[in-house]
Amino acid sequence: MKMNRRTLGKTGLQVSEIGFGAWGIGKSGWIGASDNESVEALNRAFDLGVNLVDTALAYGEGHSEKLVGQVRKQRSETIYVATKIPPKNRQWPARSRVPAEETFPAKYVIACTEQSLKNLGAETIDIQQFHVWSDEWVNHGDWLEAIQKLKQQGKVGAFGISINDYQPDNAIKLIETGVVDTVQVIYNIFEQAPEERLFPACERHSVGIIVRVALDEGGLTGKITPDTRFEEGDFRNRFFRDDRKQQVYEHVQRIVSDLDISLDQIAETALRYVLSHRAVSTVIPGMRSVRNVERNCQIGDGRGLSKHQVEKLKTHAWARNFYQ
Ligand SMILES: NC(=O)c1ccc[n+]([C@@H]2O[C@H](COP(=O)([O-])OP(=O)(O)OC[C@H]3O[C@@H](n4cnc5c(N)ncnc54)[C@H](OP(=O)(O)O)[C@@H]3O)[C@@H](O)[C@H]2O)c1
Repeated sequence: MKMNRRTLGKTGLQVSEIGFGAWGIGKSGWIGASDNESVEALNRAFDLGVNLVDTALAYGEGHSEKLVGQVRKQRSETIYVATKIPPKNRQWPARSRVPAEETFPAKYVIACTEQSLKNLGAETIDIQQFHVWSDEWVNHGDWLEAIQKLKQQGKVGAFGISINDYQPDNAIKLIETGVVDTVQVIYNIFEQAPEERLFPACERHSVGIIVRVALDEGGLTGKITPDTRFEEGDFRNRFFRDDRKQQVYEHVQRIVSDLDISLDQIAETALRYVLSHRAVSTVIPGMRSVRNVERNCQIGDGRGLSKHQVEKLKTHAWARNFYQ
């Protein structure tokens, strides 16, 4: 099977429908990856047509970037890397009334980009993203000068932002200024709000859409049951705390019975739901194993869900914020 590609908005890049989410392989937040398997997983993904990886300077303080750079160097095909600059104040998500000078001052934007270039062993970062965003920063601070300079120098190809968790509209003002090329956003069967205002705005301004957390940090994989345990130090101990595993389990059971699918098909259905929206450019499931890479790459075949299935899934939207 050939991996289907879509245009990443005004960047014009042709990116694979399935991209590689590289947070987990950085070994921060997520516990349990082994570098050998991560390298194998990346190679397998590239073999199967993945040509976009999403990483960040903050993922293992450069560890994820270094692994990605190391594998990319050994490959002959073009592989695009999207990375991210952490906010200088190290606060996720961006809070309101915190000035741009505290999060993305120009000197800091440039220093982080230089560090990521080193980690990746690259001359250009295809897509440089801010790891958080607040629309209050439009026309404030000197971050835009830094981005323009980096683009002129060829150190950055495209500029994107990663939108705060569950705040899809908190980027629309920026999109309307025309300076942003891509946005990264949480969009999945539970979190459907980006369809309302964000996606139309991106379509109007040709902004590429990178979808993150399409599998709800594992909630939409069928692997979370009330008895699931995570390793000590894994951020999901907090994300799925108290009775949240039970809640997720019940929601997933309802989806499975409504669509008359097996539990094993839920991850595929979740990824296909996202790709069924024409505004979406690519989805970046987090992958640490060859097995998940192989399963997910099969989905980049250009086949969306039927209209009927999408309509049914619309009724399973579930607004909540488990990061809090
Ligand atoms: N603020 C931000 O900018 C931000 C925040 C979060 C994520 N991201 C980006 O988005 C990417 C995706 O998010 P995420 O990794 O946090 O969450 P995700 O993609 O929603 O879920 C990842 C989980 O799904 C599992 N999985 C993947 N494919 C599967 C399959 N076919 N069957 C069963 N399970 C499967 C993984 O398994 P294993 O546990 O076996 O690996 C992992 O537990 C990240 O890697 C990162 O690049 C960005």
